[in-house]
Amino acid sequence: MRVQIKPAELKYLAPMSATLSRLTQVLHDNNTKMSEVARLIELDSGLTANVLRWANSAFFGARMPAESVQAAVVRLGMNNIIQLSLRHSLSSVMKKSVPGYALAENELWRHNMAAALTVEVLGQTQSPPLHPGAFTAALLHDVGKVILGQHLSPAVYQQLRKLMEDEGLPCLEAERRLLETDHAVVGAALAGYWKFPAELVAAIEKHHDPEPQAEPLLDLVIIANSVAKRIGLGAGSEPVLPAAEAVLQRWGLDPEGVMTLGQAVQAKIAKTEEEWKML
Ligand SMILES: [Fe+2]
Ligand SMILES: [Fe+2]
Repeated sequence: MRVQIKPAELKYLAPMSATLSRLTQVLHDNNTKMSEVARLIELDSGLTANVLRWANSAFFGARMPAESVQAAVVRLGMNNIIQLSLRHSLSSVMKKSVPGYALAENELWRHNMAAALTVEVLGQTQSPPLHPGAFTAALLHDVGKVILGQHLSPAVYQQLRKLMEDEGLPCLEAERRLLETDHAVVGAALAGYWKFPAELVAAIEKHHDPEPQAEPLLDLVIIANSVAKRIGLGAGSEPVLPAAEAVLQRWGLDPEGVMTLGQAVQAKIAKTEEEWKML
């Protein structure tokens, strides 16, 4: 059985506004100016309203209200804008349960969020600064599962679970055997369809490579995925791969460092979920 998802279906399965996809491209570049970001946001009335609301929320609470998009962009910062926009547009799609992967409602979202927060925590201790696309790549690395989750019939899902549970196949191998594709490839197709930068598409596509090349963005996604699994968030049916060990070492993260990182991410998840209620 060969799963082919047509572009028109991708649009339906995971809609993203043209502005948000352009924003992701722009924020991938370290040299982007705030004024450029503000101009882009202003093209989308829904996003404009949200950005102003976020900037003036209790969480970002400043004494003076941000009245223009430009002021809101300065207050929120580039990373917060992309995080909040992606969460806002994709969280309802990503919060659904994905039974084929034994993922309950919210589980995949929490896994992806843990991965993204790993990048955020890591960014606070690493210098030079991390790749600007790392947060987005980590947040979306498993988006292919969401797409497959919506696309496949319950009968196919059952077969997929059988391969993983009865035959003990890792999720990627089960997908390949049954579907002739896998969630990394499907996720990359979606990122390509959204016109994300090639490096970001590649990081999603290769996040399960057994021998990944040393590319900063890919490294960060592998580390983020691995930490999220180690703290027990959204492991579902994905094992921690040996390749991740080599990448962790490359970044100077020994088991103790990984544990500290994981604890910081766990604390941040609880805090982020609280903060979200204020937005
Ligand atoms: Fe994955
Ligand atoms: Fe993952």
